Amino acid sequence: MSKVELNETLRVISERHAVKKYETGLQMPEADLQAILKAASEAPSAWNLQHWKFLVIESEADKQKLLPIAFNQAQVAESCLTIAVLGDLEANRNAVIYNQAVEAGFLKPEIRDALVGQINGAYQNPQVARDSAIMNASLAAQNIMLAARSLGYDTCPMGGFNPDKLAQEFNIPGRYVPVMLISVGKAKEPARPSGRLPLSETVVRGSF
Ligand SMILES: Cc1cc2nc3c(=O)[nH]c(=O)nc-3n(C[C@H](O)[C@H](O)[C@H](O)COP(=O)(O)O)c2cc1C
Repeated sequence: MSKVELNETLRVISERHAVKKYETGLQMPEADLQAILKAASEAPSAWNLQHWKFLVIESEADKQKLLPIAFNQAQVAESCLTIAVLGDLEANRNAVIYNQAVEAGFLKPEIRDALVGQINGAYQNPQVARDSAIMNASLAAQNIMLAARSLGYDTCPMGGFNPDKLAQEFNIPGRYVPVMLISVGKAKEPARPSGRLPLSETVVRGSF
């Protein structure tokens, strides 16, 4: 067998599909949830600004509150929990992360200050702030789905929800933009088969 066929990461990636029907009444062990959230926070992000916040919706009452907000998609009520992945519109404030590197002696204070200046400058543009929030939080979302699958859970990413209602009902501060809901649980039925365009249609080598 080739390295590709034996590769665990590639297997997990190909096993992930958007599961809509879940076993109900299951609780996720806290260690599994923590492992999934840690994997999410290990995603790469521009300037390491970690443009994400994860709102875990898990109580029965909160699931019922979420159901109409997610246009009655049953997976938010039937899965173990749903993670609302939020993007940080003020991720420039997370540049405090560089203080760790300065304290550890890896980064000169003047370099940090120059970086922070560049970052704050870029984030004056609301389009940059919003694009960055959504782009980087989406990488964390993919980590959630892959980590969950590798631990034996299934997921469904959802853009089908009312972001304003979500923010209102779950007291999400204006700093955060809802990017995606991800239900996490154990599949009762497999995902509907979903094809992919052949690489010959999606890949351009060299230039167009
Ligand atoms: C950003 C995004 C939003 C999506 N929104 C929904 C949704 O609201 N409801 C749903 O059932 N599936 C949703 N999906 C799942 C897609 O339909 C699914 O990923 C796609 O058809 C490919 O199938 P697969 O993930 O099973 O391979 C969404 C996926 C993404 C990435």
